[in-house]
Amino acid sequence: MNKKIILKTKNHTYSINIEPNSIVRNLKNIITKNNKLVFLIDKKVFYIFKKLKNYKNQKYLVINCSEKLKSFNNYAKISEKILDFNIDRSTKIVAIGGGTLGDLSGFIASTILRGVDLILFPTTLLSQVDSSIGGKNGINTTSGKNLVGTFYQPKLVFIDPKILTTLSKREILSGYAEIIKHGIINDIKFFNWLNKNSEKILTLNNKTLSEAIYKSIIIKRKYVLKDEKENLKNNNSRALLNFGHTFGHALENYYKYNKKLTHGEAISIGMIIAAILSYKLGYLPIDHLNKIKNHFKLNDLPMSDNQMFNDKIFKIIEKDKKNDNKKINFVLIKKIGSAFLSNNLNLNKIKKTLK
Ligand code: GLY
Repeated sequence: MNKKIILKTKNHTYSINIEPNSIVRNLKNIITKNNKLVFLIDKKVFYIFKKLKNYKNQKYLVINCSEKLKSFNNYAKISEKILDFNIDRSTKIVAIGGGTLGDLSGFIASTILRGVDLILFPTTLLSQVDSSIGGKNGINTTSGKNLVGTFYQPKLVFIDPKILTTLSKREILSGYAEIIKHGIINDIKFFNWLNKNSEKILTLNNKTLSEAIYKSIIIKRKYVLKDEKENLKNNNSRALLNFGHTFGHALENYYKYNKKLTHGEAISIGMIIAAILSYKLGYLPIDHLNKIKNHFKLNDLPMSDNQMFNDKIFKIIEKDKKNDNKKINFVLIKKIGSAFLSNNLNLNKIKKTLK
C-alpha cells in the first residue's frame, strides 16, 4: 500500500511518502539526484545505509541516539562536524533515524548556514507518525524538553513501515501511543478502528500498519495546516497534539531522559492522567474514560508510574516555559475524538483534583 500525503503550509509544500520496502531505493534516488548531501545516521540503522554500494563515498556521520542526544553540547559538536565537510547553502541534510535524531537534525538544518534543506527518513514508529511530520524540532534544556528549537519544515519525508520489524515491542508501543493519541483528540472513528486493529498494528501487519500510519498523519496534518506555529488557543490549536504531554514531559524530565521511560511511555501515562482529570473535572463521561483505559490495558500501554504525583513532578510542570503565568496549558477531552485547551487550570487545582 503506497501512499503520498502532501503537506502544504504557508511557505512550504512537501510530500510524505509511505511505501513499504522503499528505503534503499529512495536513498539511491536522492543520491543520484543531488550531489551535495550530508547524512546523519542513527547507529541502530547504519546497516541500512551500508546496503548502498557507494556508501563510503558519501559524507556521513553515524550517531548514537537517545533522548540525551538533544543537548546544546551535541548540537554544537555535530554542527562543527558538518561544517568540516565544507558544506554550502545548496547542501541538503538527510536524517535517517528516530525522533531524537530527527529533532536534532531539524534544528541543525534550520540554523546551519542560516538554513539548508532537510530530508527525513524516519525509522521508528514514533517518528513516522509524529515527529517527522510538521516541522517541529528542538533540543532539551535543564528547564524542560524541546525548549530551544524552531519550526522548520522538511523538503521530503520517506516512510518505510517495513523497517519497523527490527524494533523492540517497547519501541513499537511507544509509537503506538502517539497513534492512539490522534484518535483520542480528533477522531472517534479512528479510535474505534484502532480498537479493532491494534493487534495487527502492533504485530506489524503490513497493510494495517501502513493504514494506521497514513490515518495518523492525516490527523496530524489538520493541526499543522491550521496552526503551523502553534499560535492559536482555540479548537484548531496545534497544542492539542500535546495531549498527555504535560505530565509526560515532566516524567521524562524527572527521570532525566534515561531509559526508565521512553517518550511514548511517558505520554501514554500522561494521557491517562489527562483523561482522568477530564473526567474528574466533569468534562469526560465515565464510559469514554473506561473505553480509553480498556484500550490501554488491552494493548499493554503504560498507565501509571509510582512517581507521577511526586511533588517534584508538579514543580517541573510549573517551571515549564510553555505555561502562561500561573495558568497551565492543559489539553483535556470532552469525549473521545474531541480535545480542547483548558485555560483556567492552575497547579493547585490540578493537584487537588488528582490527589
Ligand atoms: N508533536 C506535536 C507537534 O508536532 O505539534
